[in-house]
Amino acid sequence: MPLKLLIEFADTSDDFSDALVVFAGEKLSFGKAAKSLDKTLDGQLRAAAEVAGFKGESKRHIDVLAPPARPGARIFVAGVGDSANTDPNGWTSVGGRALGLLGQARTQSASILVDVETEDLAETAADIAMGALLRHYAFDKFKTDAGKKKKTKDDEDRKAPKLERLTIHVAKPDKAEKAFAARRAIAEGVALARDLVNEPANTLGPIEFAAECEKLTDLGVEVEILDVPALEKLGMRSLLAVAQGSDRPARVAVMQWNGAKGGAKSKGKAAKPLCFIGKGVVFDTGGISIKPAGGMEDMKGDMGGAACVTGLMAALAGRKATVNAVGIVGLVENMPSARAQRPGDIVETMSGQTVEVINTDAEGRLVLCDLLHYARERFEPRFMINLATLTGAIIVALGKEYAGMFSNDDKLSGHLSEAGEAVSEKVWRMPLANAYDKMINTPNADMKNVGGRSAGSITAAQFLQRFVGDTPWVHLDVAGVAMASGKTDISRTWASGWGVRLLDELTAKRYES
Ligand code: BES
Ligand code: ZN
Ligand code: MN
Repeated sequence: MPLKLLIEFADTSDDFSDALVVFAGEKLSFGKAAKSLDKTLDGQLRAAAEVAGFKGESKRHIDVLAPPARPGARIFVAGVGDSANTDPNGWTSVGGRALGLLGQARTQSASILVDVETEDLAETAADIAMGALLRHYAFDKFKTDAGKKKKTKDDEDRKAPKLERLTIHVAKPDKAEKAFAARRAIAEGVALARDLVNEPANTLGPIEFAAECEKLTDLGVEVEILDVPALEKLGMRSLLAVAQGSDRPARVAVMQWNGAKGGAKSKGKAAKPLCFIGKGVVFDTGGISIKPAGGMEDMKGDMGGAACVTGLMAALAGRKATVNAVGIVGLVENMPSARAQRPGDIVETMSGQTVEVINTDAEGRLVLCDLLHYARERFEPRFMINLATLTGAIIVALGKEYAGMFSNDDKLSGHLSEAGEAVSEKVWRMPLANAYDKMINTPNADMKNVGGRSAGSITAAQFLQRFVGDTPWVHLDVAGVAMASGKTDISRTWASGWGVRLLDELTAKRYES
């Protein structure tokens, strides 16, 4: 579903909508356009602020209703304090909060006046617009009027209109609109990731997810869908073992964006792609090691890593990133059945290494190990970053603030930490060490798929590391941040779309020419 808010840019002298946000900085400082608006309103904005004791503090606002000079208007004066200068993600959040206020006005169109104190006004306006767009997202496709009492004409008339059009008023609107083009592509990518995670498993199985990946061909992405015979031929036996209990067959989608100068045939270092790999368990019952019933519905989101990778590929292609990138997602359903794998089974992974499956609920690593091996062999990428809702233990360790990061490369992980701070999708590095690696040894095979009770997130990462060789690699455990991560200024929905902005930022800052 594409985003359902039309965003336009206009001059500050243009007529504002009746629902309007204007910003005030510290000590109730207004920009030029806000000042002149206040003047046409006979100083009512300032007067109202004084009565309310509002001085432009960040996250506070006042609400000015029906000023005599604009009787139909509702004007929110939103404080930005100086937080926008101290928090690199500040303006995006400001945009999200502005949209939250405008929602109260229940109008079809709304305006935001951007004349704040900032380094680059066009970029700031674009950030604010992106924040608003992300905040506007809702997962409401399954909400119907069916079964509701039949509406009278009066009810229909009273029905609140939905916000459909947002105008950003800013000096040099053309410049701001240009700056916004890339942000719109990124927001579309985030929305795609959110849609995939929110969608329940009955309507989103491996085949349906793969079809969503295939749609990226419209953006110029090359998409290959590997079906079960193809996966058997490649030897992805570990991934297939997870899928074998389900009636819905596995798929792997390989998405290539060749945006570097010279495309796929570009020369030198830039030719090698960045590689992003996602766990796409469309539903995780635990398999024969079945999960308890309470909260199991959340496991429709166990494809959050794959959703992020897909959204990222949409974002990179949508903004025509000058880089070669590959996204690979492993799409399976983890079900108990007569055909399901059992605890104690031993599978030979694509790499040739063997795994004793102690717990069928530790399935994510069994999917990822084959994808990591495949990616390394086929693409020789500059790096591999995998994302997975891999362990409940990472939620115990880090909660919902930070994703867990594991890496064999200080530079790459350092760059990711920086990108995380910049877009407020934060990562915290966790240790890898030989002592943890030993915990997944078993007498019966090369390794087992669980460690012990302790260090659950780390032993999961150690398992993955056995498949990456010396390729620079990062594993992001996103179990805490991809879903049910709470409401923020730019997200009101269960699925956060976490990681799209982070990896887009990493790519833009470090890998584009
Ligand atoms: N998908 C789960 C991890 C998860 C838990 C994600 C909660 C999001 C929220 C994963 O497949 C899993 O079941 N992990 C087990 C591993 C254990 C069996 C070693 C877990 O965390 O309990
Ligand atoms: Zn899982
Ligand atoms: Mn599981």
